[in-house]
Amino acid sequence: MTEPLRLGIAGLGTVGAGVVKIVRQKAALLAERTGRPVTISAVAARNRDKDRGVPLGDYAWEDDAVALATRDDVDVFVELMGGSDGPAKAATEAALAAGKDVVTANKAMLAHHGQALAQLAEANGAVLRFEAAVAGGIPVIKALTEGLAGNDITRVMGVMNGTCNYILTRMESAGLTYDQAFAEADKLGYLEADPELDVGGIDAGHKLSLLAAIAFGTQVAFESVELEGIGKVSIDDIRQAADMGYKVKLLGVCRMTGRGLEQRMAPCLVPATSPLGQLDGGTNMVVIEGDQVGQIVMRGAGAGEGPTASAVMGDVMDIARGTRLSTFGQPASSLKPATAAQVATPAPYYLRMCLVDKPGALAKVATALGDAGISINRMRQYDHTDDAAPVLIVTHKTTRAALDVALVAMAATGVVAREPVALRIERV
Ligand code: NAP
Ligand code: HSE
Repeated sequence: MTEPLRLGIAGLGTVGAGVVKIVRQKAALLAERTGRPVTISAVAARNRDKDRGVPLGDYAWEDDAVALATRDDVDVFVELMGGSDGPAKAATEAALAAGKDVVTANKAMLAHHGQALAQLAEANGAVLRFEAAVAGGIPVIKALTEGLAGNDITRVMGVMNGTCNYILTRMESAGLTYDQAFAEADKLGYLEADPELDVGGIDAGHKLSLLAAIAFGTQVAFESVELEGIGKVSIDDIRQAADMGYKVKLLGVCRMTGRGLEQRMAPCLVPATSPLGQLDGGTNMVVIEGDQVGQIVMRGAGAGEGPTASAVMGDVMDIARGTRLSTFGQPASSLKPATAAQVATPAPYYLRMCLVDKPGALAKVATALGDAGISINRMRQYDHTDDAAPVLIVTHKTTRAALDVALVAMAATGVVAREPVALRIERV
């Protein structure tokens, strides 16, 4: 029998326990598919006494993830602890420096240190893979790195945070307020320990920055992702967007333009009938556009034990088969620094505002838009009971910069009762 591939797994939470289960329960299948057994030598977590729902007695225990990562009987270090720095980064660096391959689900660590870690891997003849870090069970890294390698990628977009999609879906389908839907997601255990990572768009922004690096051959540039969370989306936006044939989604979009790399993660309107518009609940969707392949849509579970462990195992199986791919699809030294586009590609915008109900108010708003070079496409005024009238405007294509100029001018007119909401309408 060929030599086994020996894993050292740090982190035995949702994902780590799921990986241990697959290795135990599917040992024969894994060996058949790779031609060698996949085994576990050692594991690490903080609490040795915790019941993980899977027997661990066959494996050596390490309290220290760095010690685990550098053990002689570990070929692949599987990092499933999380956190952009701290033990996850220290142990990953130690494993790579020792020439061991690493598989991780840690988008935060890669978004912040992806370039340095990819270089470290290459310098030591090791591979660093991260399928589980983006969109859980959807094999999007593999699709971009391998299946679509012959394409110029023109755009990648998607809904990559299941928690936000769950909250937005529940607001729409059950008429819940943002706070009610957030509380429901919390009760179901969907939220990250720091919920701002989810609802602030940060987790999804991490994922987008990793896809952009592969798609456009650039160094990971999370710091230049334009980020906006879902905290300001109201039930009114969701209802009124629906009234005009749209759904509100926390949508990530990246594309390379003549002005530089555009990376945006923000609530957007998408047509209700589009695949993205029809994506409900905690599911993820990634849409990839290539010059040869056209558009590809991938949909599936973005989180959870089974789907995420499935993605981790995909990487482990590649390594067991002898597949040695660069972290971001090309040698790390050839990834170009990403120049961030200062102005995003123009798009139509949805504007919701409350206007003081008196003659000339609408004209003042229209003038502010016109003076900023923004043309109105559609407009609706809704019934009102107090002295402010809800007004909805859909603009023709414009830039966010021009819109910001118009919003400042509108505020100065004194006819806008509350801060307007502006959401980009994305062509999908
Ligand atoms: P989790 O349930 O919180 O588990 C984290 C594990 O790491 C725990 O077993 C914990 O030990 C262990 N750990 C934490 N600090 C440690 C340290 N200093 N030394 C040793 N072990 C330590 O997290 P998870 O949901 O499985 O997520 C793991 C990774 O996968 C993260 O990077 C996350 O972003 C990523 N991910 C998760 C999902 C998902 O659906 N959960 C999806 C995609 C990606 P104790 O159990 O003893 O406390
Ligand atoms: N918090 C993430 C989500 C987990 O809701 O999608 C998976 O990365």
